[in-house]
Amino acid sequence: MEPYRIKVVEPIPVLTRDERTAAMRAAGYNPFNLNADQITIDLLSDSGTGALSAAQQAAAALGDETYAGARSYYRFRDAVASLTGFEHILPVHQGRAAERILFGALIAPGQLSVSNTHFDTTRANVHLSGGTAVDLPCPEAADLDSDTPFKGDIDLVALAEALEGPTEVAVVVMTITNNGGGGQPVSMANLEAAAAITRAHGVPFILDAARFAENAWLVIQREPGWSDKTPTEVARAAFDLADGAVASLKKDAIVHMGGFLALRDPDLATRCEAVLIATEGFRTYGGLAGRDLEMIAVGLEEVVQPDYLRARAGQAEHLASLIEKAGVSIVRPPGMHALYLNAGRLLSHLTPAQYPGHALACELYVAGGIRCAELGSLYLGVEDETGTLVKPAPYELVRLAIPRRTYTQSHLEYVAEVIAEIATSPESVPGQRLVSAPPLLRHFHCRTEPVAP
Ligand code: F0G
Repeated sequence: MEPYRIKVVEPIPVLTRDERTAAMRAAGYNPFNLNADQITIDLLSDSGTGALSAAQQAAAALGDETYAGARSYYRFRDAVASLTGFEHILPVHQGRAAERILFGALIAPGQLSVSNTHFDTTRANVHLSGGTAVDLPCPEAADLDSDTPFKGDIDLVALAEALEGPTEVAVVVMTITNNGGGGQPVSMANLEAAAAITRAHGVPFILDAARFAENAWLVIQREPGWSDKTPTEVARAAFDLADGAVASLKKDAIVHMGGFLALRDPDLATRCEAVLIATEGFRTYGGLAGRDLEMIAVGLEEVVQPDYLRARAGQAEHLASLIEKAGVSIVRPPGMHALYLNAGRLLSHLTPAQYPGHALACELYVAGGIRCAELGSLYLGVEDETGTLVKPAPYELVRLAIPRRTYTQSHLEYVAEVIAEIATSPESVPGQRLVSAPPLLRHFHCRTEPVAP
């Protein structure tokens, strides 16, 4: 059960099916165009959508808004330093700012960034620095149905080949947990081996630690030799392997805004700090208010509590079991921050060009006011100049991201009921076709419409 009770509540809108159908049409069948007052359960993202604790709100009142040298910065710095062991800690307004600053300093045009899987913004920031992002997920990740415990791992053989290859590798980034790879965790054994190979080539080894505590919890549950460790100890062991870390604190610090860039190398930190000051803010606030820095310091302590992590993992497992009972496949085994529905299998009457993942995301909204996002051919597919899909995504998935401390068990049971209802007649779900799409980041802006099956 959840190790907290609710003290502040917010009503959630419940629209009629007709109202939702009209809202979806007006949104151009793009869930990103829906407004909060049209959504019953919002599973679009677990980022910045968590509920604050009373202790975090109390800490916010202590926020010191001094321009330089604020007390709140030192509380933030001490919390991040004691968690990670890194010496140089720069606050940023969110994770992608840390990526931009770090890659700007590390990657020269033509070089590679190699990862288990880059998150979208991470990949975009590699490209903005003139580099190329290469994903090397472990082979086990390709089997969505297997219960292999660490499908977030990097392919160590491919990593060694990349490091010895003709194109220079500027950085290796391990994303824990692997959000782009089904929310699967990375084992400590894989992190240790990847760090050793990377270090042997003199290449910086960086963690994208947005969900460091959830990765630690899954290591404790699943990896031999780690079951008697605390989440703090496992997280620290992971950070100890790295030369630095970028983190979006909107996830595992349970705050609405924030991030950090943490480094060991003082020269690299000095170069990054100059860009931080030019683009985010002075080194003691980096785009955040003192109140944010205070809430982060508290959130980083709360997120590693075993009772909290056990309840969070339990929520995802409970939802996963209800969805599977309804005959709908998910990427197995369930992780913690999100479940990924196998829309390609559920809507097998649709071709990739009819965007089954997107069709399911639209249907979840119309059927139940649930908002979520496609991770399939709409997002990752490639079309030719006539708009014909020429390269579909490897899988047609829909991500149900679970905000932290926000929804109760009965909210999630409602989500499962809506999915079960759709699963009774999946063939009635219409495919979608593109009506308009900008060339860049099209899944945020595109408009589609249903096509008769
Ligand atoms: N890295 C990972 C693994 C992420 O999941 C995210 C954001 C970022 C970096 C970027 O952090 O948003 O603070 O700038 N993920 C969100 C999501 C948006 O919904 O998965 P940010």
